[in-house]
Amino acid sequence: MTLSSTKPRPLIAGNWKMNGLAAALDEARAVVADLEIQPAAARVAIFPPATLLSRLSEAVGGSAVLTGAQDCHGKPNGAHTGDISAGMIADAGGSLVICGHSERRTDHGESSEQVARKAEAAIAAGLEPIVCVGETLETREAGDAVAFVVAQVRESLPPSVAGKAFCVAYEPLWAIGTGRTASVDNIIEMHAAIRAELAAIFGEQGKAVPILYGGSVKPENAGEILAAAEVGGALVGGASLKAVDFLAIIRAV
Ligand code: PGA
Repeated sequence: MTLSSTKPRPLIAGNWKMNGLAAALDEARAVVADLEIQPAAARVAIFPPATLLSRLSEAVGGSAVLTGAQDCHGKPNGAHTGDISAGMIADAGGSLVICGHSERRTDHGESSEQVARKAEAAIAAGLEPIVCVGETLETREAGDAVAFVVAQVRESLPPSVAGKAFCVAYEPLWAIGTGRTASVDNIIEMHAAIRAELAAIFGEQGKAVPILYGGSVKPENAGEILAAAEVGGALVGGASLKAVDFLAIIRAV
């Protein structure tokens, strides 16, 4: 996917994580039905578990809802039991992929260097990567959050994203799944630092790359977060599992 010259629409991305059996497709269908009545101002994407990607892509096919995967391998194919490649994601109907989510970095020890390879593989397969960064509570309390996250941005983005569509998602680890949201001031400070780094690396393109916020985004706080400076969308976990909540967040743009 090549970047358009206009400023991208915000992206509301629903990360189902390791949740969802076939019945969950009805939630996605409900999102589609609602957006058909009233189109969204934002781009909307759902990231189901890999087992549902193909069925979800068929269920929402032809609608405004995009689909993607929660991870991909850095190589196009080979002896990597249990992994899926970016090409497989595209083959299953996905057009985006989350790279370097903190749960992957923590549970699977993924380094920023590996994340960059995944994003590179995504670009090579024509997918739009969402590259995740974020600090632990310990790092924040030590006063190192901005420097840590800026370094993650630099190390997790491969040069091949230049000129292509991609997003960065800032997700402080202490706000994920905890019900605890970063304050709007925290978000504004971090997004400004990420924006400066993106502009330094990618020039004009870096000034427009969407920077999503993630971490306990819910209907009650989405409006305030999405209105904050340099917030180009949201990566939503728990509140994306139910159509009614996810739609409320989509409508907050
Ligand atoms: P949460 O997850 O909305 O459940 O906090 C966000 C994410 O990890 O993408």
